[in-house]
Amino acid sequence: VSAGARVLRLAMVGGGEGAYIGGTHRIAARFGNHFHLVAGAFDVDPTRGRRFAEAMRIAPERAYDDAEALVAGEAARDDRADVVAICTPNHTHYPIARTLLEGGFDVICEKPLTTSLEDALALERLAERTNRFVGVAYVYSAYPMIHEARARVAAGQIGTVRLVQAEYQHQWMARPLEGSAQAAWRMDPARSGRGGAIADIGTHAYHLATFVTGLTVEALFAEAWPIVPGRVLDDAAHVLLRFHGGARGLLWCSQVSPGCANGLRLRVFGSEGGLDWFQERPDELVLSTLDGGTTILRRGAAGLSDASLARGTTPPGHPEGYLEAFANLYAGFAEVLRARAEDREPNAIGRDVPTVTDGVKGVAFVEAVVDGAAAPSPTWITPVRS
Ligand SMILES: NC(=O)c1ccc[n+]([C@@H]2O[C@H](COP(=O)([O-])OP(=O)(O)OC[C@H]3O[C@@H](n4cnc5c(N)ncnc54)[C@H](O)[C@@H]3O)[C@@H](O)[C@H]2O)c1
Repeated sequence: VSAGARVLRLAMVGGGEGAYIGGTHRIAARFGNHFHLVAGAFDVDPTRGRRFAEAMRIAPERAYDDAEALVAGEAARDDRADVVAICTPNHTHYPIARTLLEGGFDVICEKPLTTSLEDALALERLAERTNRFVGVAYVYSAYPMIHEARARVAAGQIGTVRLVQAEYQHQWMARPLEGSAQAAWRMDPARSGRGGAIADIGTHAYHLATFVTGLTVEALFAEAWPIVPGRVLDDAAHVLLRFHGGARGLLWCSQVSPGCANGLRLRVFGSEGGLDWFQERPDELVLSTLDGGTTILRRGAAGLSDASLARGTTPPGHPEGYLEAFANLYAGFAEVLRARAEDREPNAIGRDVPTVTDGVKGVAFVEAVVDGAAAPSPTWITPVRS
C-alpha cells in the first residue's frame, strides 16, 4: 500500500519513561489519525526502553535497544516504519539521524538539528544523497496565525519590513536544577552543544522571525552568558540582527525570567504597519496599520490565507495551543510523505514545513551567536547559512 492511502507508521528513538517531548510527539502524531506508533528504541537504557514499549502496546519484537537495531529490525519487515522521530538529547541527533538515513528511513528530528554545523551540513548532504525527507520540529511555525503573519508580510500588508523583535523567555532554570533529567543534559556542553538557552529556545525564536519575515541574516552581534552560578553554558542571550536588505532586529532569550513560563513573542514592524503574536494567545494575531488602527485577526476567520486556514484542528473559537500546533506540524509531515509517495506536490498543510535546511540554518545561527559572544572583543559575525 502506498504511503498516500493509509495511516503512516511511526517509530521513535528516545521519548521514553519520564522524558518530556516524546509524549508530545506521540499525541501530535495521533491527533489527525495521520500516524500510529509501531516501533521504538525509547530509552538510552534498553531495559527501561522495552518496559516503556510494552506500556505503549508496541509488539515486543519491535521494541529495540538502539537506533541501529531499529534500522536492522524495521528494514527487514514488509510493514516497516515509514518515518522515525528522534526525541533524544541534542548530541545524539546526528549519529541517530545518520544511522536512520543510511538505513533508508525518513526522519523527523528534534531541534537543534545537531550540535555542530559540520554535522548539520553532513546530514543535509546525506538527506539529499539518500533522497530521504528530514523534518525538523520547529513547532511554533506550525501555528495557524504564524502562517497568517507570514502571508500578510509576503502580501505587503505592513509594507517593507524595517524592525523585527523576537523573544523567548523561560523561568524554569532561574534556580539551580540539580536532579532534573531535562536540565542535566541542557547544562552540559557535551550533550547540549556549545549553546545553552540560545540552542534550546533562541533557535525557535530565530526560526520564527525568519520564517514570518522571509528575511535572511547578513550579520549578528551577540552576548550569551551563564547567569546562575555554576553553569558554563548561556542561560540568556541578546542578539542584534542585521538582515539582508536593511531591516534590523533584536532577538533575546533566557531560561531565567521569572513570570515567563513560555514567553515566545514576535513583533514585526514595516513601513505601513506592524504585526504582534504572543504564544500565550496563539489564536490571535494583532495587525496595526498606520492609517487603519488595530485589528485582531483570529484563527479560522473568513478571509485568512490558505496557509493559515489549512492549519488548526478544531472549529474557530475553541482555544488551540501547543499540542494542536504540534499536531499541525505532524499533519504537515504526513502530507509531505504522502505527496512524495504519490509523486505530487503537497497541499497547503504540507508546504513550508521545517526541513533539514531550516535545521542547518538554526545550527549556523547558534554557532554564530556562540562565536560572537566568545570573541575577545565585541564583533559582528556572519552566519555560515541564513
Ligand atoms: N520542539 C520543541 O518544542 C522541543 C521542546 C522540548 C525539547 N525539545 C528537544 O527534544 C529533545 C529531547 O528533549 P527532552 O526534554 O524530551 O529530553 P529528555 O531528557 O526528557 O528525554 C530524552 C529521552 O531520550 C532518551 N535517550 C537518550 N539517548 C538515547 C539514545 N542514544 N537512544 C535512545 N534513546 C535515548 C532518554 O532515555 C530519554 O527517554 C532535545 O533535543 C530538545 O532540544 C524540543
